Amino acid sequence: MTTEDMTNRLETVRAQYELYKERPFDLTLARGIPSTEQLKLSEALINETPIENWYSKDELDIRNYGGLFGIQEARELFGLLLDTEVEETFVGGNSSLQLMYATLNHLMFTSSNPWIKEEKVKFICPSPGYDRHWFMLDHMGIEMIPVELTGNGPDMETVEKLVSQDPSIKGMFVVPTYNNPTGETVSDDVVDRLAGMHTAADDFVIIWDNAYVVHHLRDSKKQAKNILEVAKRELNPDRVIQFVSTSKMTLPGAGVAAIGASEARISELALTFSKQLISFDKLNQMRHVLFLKDKETIEKHMAKHAEILAPKFDWIEAILSAYFHGERQSFIEWTEPDGGYFVHLTTQDGCATEIVEKMKEIGIELTPSNAAYPYGINPKDNSIRLAPSFAKPDDLEIAMEALCTCIELVTLEKSLN
Ligand SMILES: Cc1ncc(COP(=O)(O)O)c(C=O)c1O
Repeated sequence: MTTEDMTNRLETVRAQYELYKERPFDLTLARGIPSTEQLKLSEALINETPIENWYSKDELDIRNYGGLFGIQEARELFGLLLDTEVEETFVGGNSSLQLMYATLNHLMFTSSNPWIKEEKVKFICPSPGYDRHWFMLDHMGIEMIPVELTGNGPDMETVEKLVSQDPSIKGMFVVPTYNNPTGETVSDDVVDRLAGMHTAADDFVIIWDNAYVVHHLRDSKKQAKNILEVAKRELNPDRVIQFVSTSKMTLPGAGVAAIGASEARISELALTFSKQLISFDKLNQMRHVLFLKDKETIEKHMAKHAEILAPKFDWIEAILSAYFHGERQSFIEWTEPDGGYFVHLTTQDGCATEIVEKMKEIGIELTPSNAAYPYGINPKDNSIRLAPSFAKPDDLEIAMEALCTCIELVTLEKSLN
């Protein structure tokens, strides 16, 4: 595009934006939560799943206290998601984030070698990643070191170099399947290297947050290799602590979360949980067992979610590729995930914050720009997360068209300056 072409085009785009400003919307693509239509898929969990037997397979009265590790049938069910044996599976309450927090809290204060004794504790943060992971680390005073993602997981050369040299690096977060927000799944090679790498800290942990383990959008289903198995083979059995939950399978407000790790780790964590509570909600665990049953039932249930979600991702793809081709192709890059809940946009450097602000001015809320980076700091200012799940299809179309205008407006203004 010549400067003259750009100036002319900018006038047209500005006029379009002014029209939006005159009649602002009231929409959000900020929240990665299931739509009401998706929640309906699990109403039967509450309304049509009567518990007829109050005793679990391991003879616990599920109405009463007891069974801190979870009822046996729930440990079996979650073992299917975590690829773990019953003894390696701990089933908790409704939030995997809370289990992660409790785990980190234990490692920081109450483990046999608590990190709090060290001068500094650092974590590797594959970025763009999940902002709530970064909030958690920041809250605990753990220093965050961003490492770029490659499309197949974290850049392993950088990870290996850092962790082999610095004993204050105590761990890292990984979202192995359909990462929030890039949608990528870690390759087998990355799994092998993470499980086997030399770490200067001998108590290095990987918080393996498999929140989207069965959340496929396409037939080409992706799944990260079983890291615990590799870690055991590499004689690092306690390195990996895996987490899953049914938040985006059934009801986020009333789901069930679980941990998968070596038997030693599970015992250690159970001990720390025993100081916090007597047992989690076993009735809800049982309801989930009756509702989700087995692998086949889970697959069928998740296919219904995909039926609702996939068209939204298709829309985003269609609208972006129709708008940003030819001369405008370089304005933006976007992911086309096979699963999970997000599309990640990479804008031209220095444009993301202004695009999100421009959207806000016309009444469309996006996740704050660069929130996927530790401390919300991304020197390139080029990261925007789209969370289309909650939006109605018509609203999504409107929001995406407005977003295209805002991206073009900001990119042209920056180029001409
Ligand atoms: C990567 C990731 N982990 C965890 C969660 C939340 O999990 P839970 O509801 O089990 O606490 C989310 C929700 O968006 C997520 O994206």
